[in-house]
Amino acid sequence: MMEKFGVSLRLLVVGLVIAEIVSGADEFSRYDFPPGFVFGAGTSAYKVEGAANEDGRTPSILDTWTHSDSGGANRDIACDQYHKYNEDVELMAEMGLDAYRFSISWSRLIPNGRGSVNPKGLQYYNNLINELISHGIEPHVTLHHFDLPQALEDEKDFVEYADVCFRMFGDGVKYWTTLNEANIFTMAGYDHGLLPPNHCSSPFGYFNSTKGDSSLEPYLADHTHRPLDCIRRNTRFVEPLVHGDYPEVMKKNAGSRLPSFTALESQKVKGSYDFFAVNFYSATYVKDNSESLNVEPRDYEADMAVDWERMQENASSKYTLSPLFESSLPPWGLQGVLELFKQNYGNPPIFIHEKGKRMRQNTSLEDWPRIQCLQEHIGVLLDTVRNGSNAKGYFTWSLLDVFGLLDGYQSGYGLYYVDLDDPELRRFPKLSAEWYSRFLKGGSITPDGGIELKGNQSSLSSAQVIR
Ligand SMILES: *[C@@H]1O[C@H](CO)[C@@H](O)[C@H](O)[C@H]1NC(C)=O
Ligand SMILES: *[C@@H]1O[C@H](CO)[C@@H](O)[C@H](O)[C@H]1NC(C)=O
Ligand SMILES: *[C@@H]1O[C@H](CO)[C@@H](O)[C@H](O)[C@H]1NC(C)=O
Ligand SMILES: *[C@@H]1O[C@H](CO)[C@@H](O)[C@H](O)[C@H]1NC(C)=O
Ligand SMILES: *[C@@H]1O[C@H](CO)[C@@H](O)[C@H](O)[C@H]1NC(C)=O
Repeated sequence: MMEKFGVSLRLLVVGLVIAEIVSGADEFSRYDFPPGFVFGAGTSAYKVEGAANEDGRTPSILDTWTHSDSGGANRDIACDQYHKYNEDVELMAEMGLDAYRFSISWSRLIPNGRGSVNPKGLQYYNNLINELISHGIEPHVTLHHFDLPQALEDEKDFVEYADVCFRMFGDGVKYWTTLNEANIFTMAGYDHGLLPPNHCSSPFGYFNSTKGDSSLEPYLADHTHRPLDCIRRNTRFVEPLVHGDYPEVMKKNAGSRLPSFTALESQKVKGSYDFFAVNFYSATYVKDNSESLNVEPRDYEADMAVDWERMQENASSKYTLSPLFESSLPPWGLQGVLELFKQNYGNPPIFIHEKGKRMRQNTSLEDWPRIQCLQEHIGVLLDTVRNGSNAKGYFTWSLLDVFGLLDGYQSGYGLYYVDLDDPELRRFPKLSAEWYSRFLKGGSITPDGGIELKGNQSSLSSAQVIR
C-alpha cells in the first residue's frame, strides 16, 4: 500500500525542521499546560460511522444530500467506524489521546427522529463509550452534527432526543455540545440546560482598502466596534448565552425579522452553559459597509453592514507555506478568539473542539503542513493560556480522513489516512499522528526555526498496519 505514497512510516522522525515558526512560546511540552488540560481528536457520526442502512438506522438529511450529489461511492460505508470502533479506540490509545470527540447519529439512536429508541443504536454508542472509558479516553459528544433525521423538521423533537442521550449515556459522558444553532436556545430552558454550542469562531481583522494585506494582522477586531458586533457566528449566540439578549446593533439592523427574547426566556438563556466549544477554521477581514443597510430585501448578510472577506492562503504569502493546496491560517486567529472570550465574556472554560488542517488526499503521508499547524496552534494556545485564558482542551480535527461535506474525499484533515480502495479500509498513520503522539506522550517541542521532538520514541504501531 505504501508504494502509493513512496514513503515508509517506519522512518524515525527525530528532527522535523520547518522554517519560520510563528509561535512565541519557547520550548514546550504538554506538561506546560495546566493539569487536566485535555488533548484529543475528533470525528462526527455521518463522516465516519458508515453502516448507513444497518441495524435500523434511517437516513439523515446528509444521506439525502450526499446521495443526490453524484459520484459518491463509499458514503454509506465511510470509515466503517460502526464496525471498527474497537480498532479505532486502540489507535487512539496507542497515540495517547486524552479524549475523543464524536457525534451521535440521531437517526441511528431514534430512527424516526422521535419515539422509540433503537436498541442496536443504543448498544453501539454504549459500546463505544465504554470502550473509550476503559482505555482512559474521555468522551466528548456532539448531539447534532448537521445530520438531522430526514423524518424530522421539528425543533422540539430535539429536546426529547437530547433527553434520551442524557439519560442513556449521561453516566459516561460529561461534555455535550451541539452544532445546530437553533438547538442552543431550545435547550436553554430545559433541565439539562447546560448545553453549549460548538461555536464556529472566526476572528476578525479590520481591513481598510487593502484587504488581505498582512500588515493589518495586528488589527484584531475591536469587537466593540459597531459593525463587528453583529457579525455572524460570534456574538449572535454568545451574547444571548452570556448576557441574555442579542447585541443592540443586531436588533436594530435586523428589526422585526429578529425574534426577541421574553424576559423569562432571556433569564433562562443567560448563563445556561458550562463551557464554550470552539470550532476554529477561518479568519476574516471586515470593513464597515453601512450601505448594505439600504439593500432590499435585506437579509442576514446585509444586516451585518460589513464587507468581509475570508483570509485565504493568497491573502498573505507569509502563510502560503505549503506546496499543497490547503489554506493556512495564521495562528494568531486562535489567540484572538480566546482573548475575545476572556476579555469580553467573563473568561468561560473553552474547549477548542475542532481545529484542523485540510490537505489534498492521495498525496503523501508526510503531512508536514499539518504538523506545522499543530505545532503553531498548540504553541499559541499555550501563550494564550499563560496570558490567562481559561481554555481547557484542544481537539484536532480529525482522527481519520473523513468524508468532507465540501469536497467528498478529495481532501482530508486526518491524522490517519484511510485506504478507501482496501475492502478492509485500513488506517495508516501520517507523520502528524506520529508527531501528535510524541507530544501527547510528553515530547518537548523546541522553537528556533524548527521542531525537535525529544523523549520517547513513539509506540505507534505503524508496522502493524502496513502490509
Ligand atoms: C484606514 O486608512 C486610512 C488612510 O490610509 C488610515 O488613516 C486609517 O488609519 C486606516 N484605518 C485602519 C483601521 O487601519
Ligand atoms: C492565488 O491567486 C492567484 C492570482 O489571483 C490565482 O491564480 C491562484 O489560483 C490563487 N491560488 C489559490 C490557491 O487560490
Ligand atoms: C493578555 O491579556 C491582557 C489582559 O487581558 C490583554 O490586555 C493582552 O492584550 C493580552 N495579550 C495578548 C497577546 O493577547
Ligand atoms: C486515490 O488513489 C486511488 C488509487 O490510486 C484511486 O483509486 C482513488 O480514486 C484516489 N482518490 C482520490 C480522491 O483521488
Ligand atoms: C519511555 O517509554 C517507556 C515505555 O512506555 C517508559 O517506561 C519510560 O519511562 C519512557 N521514558 C521516558 C523518558 O519518558
